[in-house]
Amino acid sequence: MNVLHVASELAPLIKTGGLGDVTGALSKALAAQGHAVRVLVPAYRSLSRQGLARTEIVVTAPFGAQDVRVRVWSGLLPGTEVIVHALDAPEAFDRDGLYQDPARGTDYPDNLARFSLFCRAVLAAMPHLDWRPDVVHAHDWHAALVCAHLAWGEARSMPAWQGMPTVLTVHNLAYQGLFPAAQGAQTGLPSAARGQGGVGFRGQVNCLKGGLLSADRLTTVSPTYAREIQTAEFGCGLDAVLRRRAEDLTGILNGIDVDVWNPATDSHLAARYAAEDPAGKAACKRALQHELGLPERPDLLIGMVQRLVEQKGVDLLLAALAELMAVPVQLVVLGSGAASYEAQLQAAARHHPDRVAVRLGFDEALAHQIEAGADAFLMPSRFEPCGLNQMYSMRYGTVPIVRRVGGLADTVVDLTPATLDAGTATGIVFDAYTPVALVAAVARATAAFARPARWRRLMHHGMTRDFSWTQAAGAYARVYEQARTRQAVAP
Ligand code: ADP
Ligand code: GLC
Repeated sequence: MNVLHVASELAPLIKTGGLGDVTGALSKALAAQGHAVRVLVPAYRSLSRQGLARTEIVVTAPFGAQDVRVRVWSGLLPGTEVIVHALDAPEAFDRDGLYQDPARGTDYPDNLARFSLFCRAVLAAMPHLDWRPDVVHAHDWHAALVCAHLAWGEARSMPAWQGMPTVLTVHNLAYQGLFPAAQGAQTGLPSAARGQGGVGFRGQVNCLKGGLLSADRLTTVSPTYAREIQTAEFGCGLDAVLRRRAEDLTGILNGIDVDVWNPATDSHLAARYAAEDPAGKAACKRALQHELGLPERPDLLIGMVQRLVEQKGVDLLLAALAELMAVPVQLVVLGSGAASYEAQLQAAARHHPDRVAVRLGFDEALAHQIEAGADAFLMPSRFEPCGLNQMYSMRYGTVPIVRRVGGLADTVVDLTPATLDAGTATGIVFDAYTPVALVAAVARATAAFARPARWRRLMHHGMTRDFSWTQAAGAYARVYEQARTRQAVAP
């Protein structure tokens, strides 16, 4: 099947979070299963152009009130058969940040114009690429308007696009692409599609909602999150829309790229190791302590690598920190995000220089070193559509301590006498979003860590689980087949 992905991120070329990991690894896995896969991304300033070449294909598309020229860059995703087309529109994408101005920490005010341009440029450029997809797979709100245009816009009747099936994946319902209704015309959608039956939402434009209503099939990134988002608690205002489309919505658990995240071959590490011989992990722990200026202690070393945003439970960590310092642990945090979280974490590191180390910024190598060097990995998320780091952790013999939400609930098996005996226990899972529950979970981890034979079994169970993309890629292929047999939804 010919599969066209439309996405804002694509690892290893451009990534701010799990979205990039997933589009990169999923397209690679689909290609390995024999599908012809292409991915269209914006040519951000920070996009690595490794393997891409400038082509002579140039299309014109509206960017707010003006028309701009969009040049296509093409090439192969490194190490794969996946063809990448980057859409180069400097007016919209040649900027320091992807979504926000890093100097101000606020979203770019013209994001609707930017991502409307991206989606319309996708529709304009594809017919020049001598290739027709059998299905278009859009990811998150940045690409959702492609589905809306194909169902409701002029593209619907263009020969290149007629009858094109679409699939939309929700990686995170909290990001919807919300803009003032007055900007609605910038989407380029006909006015009927800008009302309540389309992108209109409580007096605003909601790009994701447009995709949720117009795509032939919907997926999200774990079975538990697929259920959660149909409830008021997790639905971010769109639960009613999702309930209406419940029959078309599938939760497909993300895999991980087991070539990139492999402790036996990882070139970022001080030593390499595997489930059968985990000895090198101790050297990774020492190297990490040394790198971050922490004393070499035998205590449980807890790692965290994440965007520092409300979703990830940073407030919970901060509220629990004083009590956590009463437990014999060291804590290493790598992340960037909200300025107030960054400042509070740095203050904690200053107060506890031998226990807490914080690195702000985005650092791929250090992320790998933390996965390998930490004993445990903490994810106290408020909500988590899937989460990848808990799977990286298990593969690196680093025991995850997670809250029972979304994909965390679907991937980590809590340590109990029964699960330990059955050989299924892989981590520590807690329920309440409270400092007390977080501290109790860490205390359970330190108790298990104090019994080395028990801890080794936990590590081994995690390290030998299959988190590859093989199954998930097959599940997506089935969803594509279902999309091809359906009719589009009218606004
Ligand atoms: P989300 O997509 O919500 O951020 P995921 O767990 O799905 O969460 O994916 C996060 C990805 O981004 C992981 O690959 C993680 O290692 C990476 N990541 C997040 N923050 C950083 C950082 N500061 N430096 C390096 N990698 C990071
Ligand atoms: C989102 C979610 C995360 C998920 C990732 C990839 O960013 O927050 O839980 O793993 O997308 O699907």
